[in-house]
Amino acid sequence: MNDALPRLGILGSGSGSNCQSIMDAIDAGTLKAEVAIVLSDNPDAYILERARQRGIPAQVIDCRGFKSKFPEESQKEVADALLAHGVDLVCLAGFMRLVRHPLLDAFPARIINIHPALLPAFPGLEAWAQAVRAGATESGCTVHYVDDGMDTGPILGQARVPVLPDDTPESLHARIQIEEHKLYPAMIVKALENIRPIPA
Ligand code: GRF
Repeated sequence: MNDALPRLGILGSGSGSNCQSIMDAIDAGTLKAEVAIVLSDNPDAYILERARQRGIPAQVIDCRGFKSKFPEESQKEVADALLAHGVDLVCLAGFMRLVRHPLLDAFPARIINIHPALLPAFPGLEAWAQAVRAGATESGCTVHYVDDGMDTGPILGQARVPVLPDDTPESLHARIQIEEHKLYPAMIVKALENIRPIPA
């Protein structure tokens, strides 16, 4: 990276509250970066609206009608869009498809994710519900690098929350999200510190 602000590309499928926390941290000056582009596989996702409201390019990913698969052609299109927008670090924020090659190859050690559990516990979908079902007394959230496994890459940081006896999946998720919104921007700062200039 040169003196210009590092550029983030954000991928999400839903409400985008984590994307919002990243933009809020930028506004607060605690995260010195800019959001270059937001992409979603869900045309109705509010994350796209949050981007548009700030004048940030918001793009729908064409997943060729697949419900959960992330086809290789689509991943290539996403990689091209991120590269065209000069993205240094890709942040998955509630993105519901597994990132594989060729997207991983385009951003080696430059894709991170936030997961709503203390990995390696409860990987996969609805981790908050898994924690309640398992009778866990503690859970939290994890920011990690993305590799070709499911929620398996090296961990950047975690935040813990208690699981209360009367918690429902929803109440636990709400408590976890409060921590996510602090942890993710802070771990993006850390990830950016690890990034060296991309060779021309
Ligand atoms: C978060 O809980 C995140 O950990 C998980 O999906 C949820 C996305 O929420 N991967 P939001 O769209 O950022 O509000």
